[in-house]
Amino acid sequence: MNQSAVRRTPSGQAQSHRSGRCIAVASGKGGVGKTWFAITLAHALAQRGQLVLLFDADLGLANIDIQLGLTPALDLGSVVSGAASLTDAITHFVPGGFDILAGRSGTGSLAALEPEVLERLLSALAAAAARYDTVLLDLGAGLDRSVRRMAAWADTLLVIATEEPTSLTDAYATLKLYTADRLEGDARLVVNLSSTPAAGARTAATLTRACTAFLGHTPLVAGTIRRDAHVQDAIRRQTPLLTRYPTCPASVDVERIAAMLAE
Ligand SMILES: Nc1ncnc2c1ncn2[C@@H]1O[C@H](COP(=O)(O)OP(=O)(O)OP(=O)(O)O)[C@@H](O)[C@H]1O
Ligand SMILES: [Mg+2]
Repeated sequence: MNQSAVRRTPSGQAQSHRSGRCIAVASGKGGVGKTWFAITLAHALAQRGQLVLLFDADLGLANIDIQLGLTPALDLGSVVSGAASLTDAITHFVPGGFDILAGRSGTGSLAALEPEVLERLLSALAAAAARYDTVLLDLGAGLDRSVRRMAAWADTLLVIATEEPTSLTDAYATLKLYTADRLEGDARLVVNLSSTPAAGARTAATLTRACTAFLGHTPLVAGTIRRDAHVQDAIRRQTPLLTRYPTCPASVDVERIAAMLAE
């Protein structure tokens, strides 16, 4: 691991009161690019001058730290056990210019957080959010109680889908539960791994049509991201995509989504 990539956030950083908008990233189906997208979106928003906290909310199989090659001294496990405050467990990711609250990867020990523990965590996160422009939550796959609660808790939910039918049905199920939990919510669709921008737009249209017809609510489309071999390469090298390949198709697509969200 690259120790110089991470340092503790000095107390006093990011002190002024900021908008603290919380954006959760969910998908239902696993392996569609939530973690990679959340990391890259955090990076893109930081490059636009925002103060960003990336929160690894995949309680079962956290892996933001793995994708970035970090081993922070403190993580969400330290917060839940009471060994550290949430603020103390935040580290600054130097190459990306954003802060990270890492999960506890490889143990699954946070998979079944008691509801009251989760609520305490969300209260602490809401307090910390006031020091940031954006807090991004990388949620786990599936639709368990914690995923559903955090999706509904955030100000905005980005639902990732791909062109695969199983991903479409899981994204639809995510949106259906969200609509039941949040009547006036703000769910937006992201199509990842699209073969072409036009194919991505067709996938988004299929899903939004189903939502309009059966849920009575039409989610906005945040954007589509092309399938791009640079993504796998950057993950293999544990290097942020925007650092290694700043002009590759997937970087351009995520930057467009960041610009739209920052408006
Ligand atoms: N736009 C893309 N182009 C090419 N490959 C991609 C793209 N997005 C994601 N991938 C590939 O998909 C894999 C899974 O991504 P990631 O781990 O971010 O998914 P996830 O939804 O967080 O998975 P999990 O549900 O297990 O948490 C990555 O390792 C990467 O190889
Ligand atoms: Mg993930």
